[in-house]
Amino acid sequence: MLNDLERVMFDEKTIAERIAELGQEITRDYAGKDIVVVGILKGSVVFFSDLIRQIKLPLNIDFIVASSYGDGAETSGRVNIKKDLEKDIAGRDVLLVEDIIDSGVTMNCLMDILNKRQPASVKLCALLTKEPRRQIPVKIDYCGFDVPDEFLVGYGLDYAEKYRNLPVIGVLKREIYS
Ligand code: IMP
Ligand code: MG
Repeated sequence: MLNDLERVMFDEKTIAERIAELGQEITRDYAGKDIVVVGILKGSVVFFSDLIRQIKLPLNIDFIVASSYGDGAETSGRVNIKKDLEKDIAGRDVLLVEDIIDSGVTMNCLMDILNKRQPASVKLCALLTKEPRRQIPVKIDYCGFDVPDEFLVGYGLDYAEKYRNLPVIGVLKREIYS
């Protein structure tokens, strides 16, 4: 799998250190609140499980499955909720956890859907942001790293459902997806 990478962008240590920092910020900001941390599956699964262990507060977790991508590398522009949250978020402080914000279409749509349910607050924590690709503005409250416009895999990020279990984040060789 590592052979399919053009290069490694973030190694395990770099990722872990940044997540520890994010965890500290979140811990400080949410002290005393009734927090539900929502993972957006499947891409956030690895980040989510590392992040929640760096949040030193009592919390609940929940998951939502939304997708705007098929098996390819380009967005279809449509967002589809395939599995909804288990519990009502009315009155709760919701922290959404996403792997990467690219065009912003998925997150924009999800934010609209969740805000209609009258939560006390909704904030976003994204490991990666690809600013040059943004079509719709998205406010990222806690962001791991800014990345350039390249197709990334690993640490939850997939190409055609592969590479999610790579412990690093790297640039996929172009010949594999083009
Ligand atoms: P957006 O709606 O274009 O912002 O797409 C966000 C979703 O697209 C993310 O949650 C990822 O699942 C996927 N995505 C965007 N860029 C990449 C990438 O470089 N590698 C793998 N998945 C990506
Ligand atoms: Mg994906």
